[in-house]
Amino acid sequence: IASVVGEPTIALVGLPGSGKSAIGRRLGQQLGWRFVDTDHCIEDRIGCTIREFFEREGEDAFREVEEQVLADLTSSLRQSVMATGGGSVLRASNRQHLRERTHVVYLRSSPEELLRRLRHDTKRPLLQVADPLQRLKDLHAVRDPLYREIAHTTVDTGRPSIAMLVSTIVQQL
Ligand code: S3P
Repeated sequence: IASVVGEPTIALVGLPGSGKSAIGRRLGQQLGWRFVDTDHCIEDRIGCTIREFFEREGEDAFREVEEQVLADLTSSLRQSVMATGGGSVLRASNRQHLRERTHVVYLRSSPEELLRRLRHDTKRPLLQVADPLQRLKDLHAVRDPLYREIAHTTVDTGRPSIAMLVSTIVQQL
């Protein structure tokens, strides 16, 4: 933990279902740091759910808001654990802000594992398709290199419990 004192914040990145919110909340408790979910901050700003916003305004409009919120949060947060949206790494400016202003932890999972966790999910607009496994494989192919590019630490989230993953992350800080 000593090595992150002075770091402004820890950002968890990874695909939808990789456990960013659940692990982030627990990690925040363990470090005594605040937990911030960027998707919730975005919903506060747009005044509706992300799913509604996607349907009404489209993905590009969502990415604009996401970029503003991430720029604000990465420059203002201190001693916080931040769960980012899975697509936040798509824009170069977001990658730069995350890499330079936070300690980035990539929660890496296979598409099959993600599908198992998300099979009853209705909140994620990108997964409302006929073949969600194929969609997750496509998202993984595009984004895994981007998550790797900015990660300071990578943790495989296969079988371990949330508590075990949190202690692995803390050991690697
Ligand atoms: C998205 C992931 C979502 C949310 C939005 C877009 C994505 O966040 O930001 O639906 O592009 O993967 P989670 O990763 O928390 O599901």
